[in-house]
Amino acid sequence: MITIALSKGRIFDDILPLLKSAGIEVLDDPEQSRKLILDTNQSDVRVLLVRATDVPTYVQYGGADMGVVGKDTLLESGNSFGSNAGVAGLYQPLDLQIAKCRISVAVRDGFDYAAAMKQGSRMTVATKYVAIARDFFASKGVHVDLIKLYGSMELAPLTGLADAIVDLVSTGNTLKANHLTEVERIMDISSHLVVNQTALKLKQAPIRKIIDAFAVAVKNRTENQD
Ligand code: PRP
Repeated sequence: MITIALSKGRIFDDILPLLKSAGIEVLDDPEQSRKLILDTNQSDVRVLLVRATDVPTYVQYGGADMGVVGKDTLLESGNSFGSNAGVAGLYQPLDLQIAKCRISVAVRDGFDYAAAMKQGSRMTVATKYVAIARDFFASKGVHVDLIKLYGSMELAPLTGLADAIVDLVSTGNTLKANHLTEVERIMDISSHLVVNQTALKLKQAPIRKIIDAFAVAVKNRTENQD
């Protein structure tokens, strides 16, 4: 049995064509069903639905053989697991180039970010991405007070909780609707395939087959976009 950990939403929708290229079709629709273990057209492949932030944990500890997770989540969990080199026991063979977005700094419209960033000044930054934000502002030599939030970060600058937020931006519509301006792009984000290293040894042939099919599909799609 090969178990693949996925999260609902953008990643799930974007991974379906890649799974199909590996001959795998998910038989249940996660938006219609409350099932957390989804069958596929292959009796020896199943999909687990987990929270995005839990995907590295499931794969690291072998609850799933492989998973798909955003680089943002990998960087944050790598840090909370105490390693900058990534999460121990996780093999990261492929950038799937799906669920593409960016992590940026945003402030209230009209806020003087350049002045606030001047050496010596102090800013309060609200974010779910504490490790990424800490590294970014440290690299600029700017002292920031970080406030950890778990969602709706856009509210922080609007309510005076923080001067700035560090958050995912895709279309930019959420920032716009909340009168916020993207002032700095920290990094581009996409989803990556992660594989449990022990599973890769024990189930090498079926896992390699999936990795190779994904790699070909990603390459073909990139070439068609050029
Ligand atoms: C992210 C992010 C923003 C939104 C940006 O949230 O936190 O709220 O997407 O997208 P946009 O630029 O296209 O408007 P997501 O939907 O991933 O859910 P989350 O709030 O649970 O992180």
